[in-house]
Amino acid sequence: MSDQVKYVLGESEIPTHWVNLLPDLPGQSFPPLHPGTGQPVGPDDLAPLFPLELIMQEVSSEPEIEIPEEVRDAYRLWRPSPLYRARRLERLLDTPAHIYYKYEGVSPAGSHKPNSAVAQAYYNRAAGIRKLVTETGAGQWGSALSLACQLFGLECEVFMVGISYDQKPYRRAMIETWGGVVHRSPTDLTEAGRSQSAHSHGSLGIAISEAVEVAARSADTNYALGSVLNHVCLHQTVIGQEAIKQMEMAGEMPDVVVGCVGGGSNFAGLTYPFIRRDLREQTSTRYVAAEPSACPTLTRGEYRYDFGDTVGMTPLMPMYTLGHDFVPPPVHAGGLRYHGDAPSLCQLVREGVVEASAIPQTQAFDAAVRFARAEGIVPAPEAAHALRAGFIEAERAKQSGQGRVILIGLSGHGHFDMSAYDAYHAGELEDLEFSEAEVRDALARLPSAPAIS
Ligand SMILES: Cc1ncc(COP(=O)(O)O)c(C=O)c1O
Repeated sequence: MSDQVKYVLGESEIPTHWVNLLPDLPGQSFPPLHPGTGQPVGPDDLAPLFPLELIMQEVSSEPEIEIPEEVRDAYRLWRPSPLYRARRLERLLDTPAHIYYKYEGVSPAGSHKPNSAVAQAYYNRAAGIRKLVTETGAGQWGSALSLACQLFGLECEVFMVGISYDQKPYRRAMIETWGGVVHRSPTDLTEAGRSQSAHSHGSLGIAISEAVEVAARSADTNYALGSVLNHVCLHQTVIGQEAIKQMEMAGEMPDVVVGCVGGGSNFAGLTYPFIRRDLREQTSTRYVAAEPSACPTLTRGEYRYDFGDTVGMTPLMPMYTLGHDFVPPPVHAGGLRYHGDAPSLCQLVREGVVEASAIPQTQAFDAAVRFARAEGIVPAPEAAHALRAGFIEAERAKQSGQGRVILIGLSGHGHFDMSAYDAYHAGELEDLEFSEAEVRDALARLPSAPAIS
């Protein structure tokens, strides 16, 4: 069919393995360091927070890791996700580019996050854990983990970034519907929360500190992280593997793959299988990571060792960072308000494999509304950043008069983000200032650690 729109795979084509890009990463990798000793962290350091299987995945040098049958069975609830050729959008943009998008909004939680949540719940249950504690920004990860805990018989407790808790009451209700307990972070339930009470909007970094503190208190309770770590990026690679098959069905391969980046997990999930393919088959593809210009870690951050959380309880990770206690402005794409990024993604940016692009939120919403009017789907504000970056590529194709194939990661829908769309329609959405001075201050407070240059 020459005008096909949707490329759909059968359940039997859900990937059987996750793609681990770690052994193929170009350039030098630096280990995470213990926050107290400054030495590389070992499995014992992580054992109070994560089950052994996930710790082993975190450091695995196996190029592929088998997906347990029970996890694949849970994936069947929404996977494989569809790939669309955005023909109506192409006409609207009047571009010679072929635009495709891989849509993760078909999961029960409405984003890619359950791809890792169900895997993490599975391994924790297998290790005899009773409860998982986590943080959530936009509420996407918290709702995904609440669902996953329900599927695997675990309790779930979520520290939700204050501003999102206020802006997204229905995300909170969704977490509760699946049986999770939600707190507005910062709380007075933890030392970390009490120490950050001045930041009433909260931030992902603060919520992580709270969740880690609660998890570290009890032996039958573990912590679950929704992004950044290697095992989370690993679980997301079902996205890119399916997308490769679907692009084959469409008879073309992308010249450029675009995704949004908060901590990097959906971007990694979509791109790492393509990057693996480039490395193995000597093909070449451009990769563009779209981040909010109010929290521009990859484009304006420094490549240094920093904590993953605000208070400084997590290992030090080598990454582009704005400083662990930098509190990003309250942009509506709550899931993109994180001070750092996945170390593997940072390494790929540093090595020039991935380009980064900072997108103002008004431009992201402008792209999202145009997309919704052409394609029907109302995108999550996070995914809107990827759309804007994709539009820039489509415009370049138009200016140069050359066709190109663009693949966009549409990481979720925005059905619980309509207050942000309301603000956009009312002309009240602002491009929040990114403060160079605040970042300089935050970077000056970075822990001493070996230089990585
Ligand atoms: C829909 C959506 N896309 C993207 C992100 C960003 O996270 P990551 O960079 O880990 O994919 C989030 C985070 O909450 C999200 O909800």
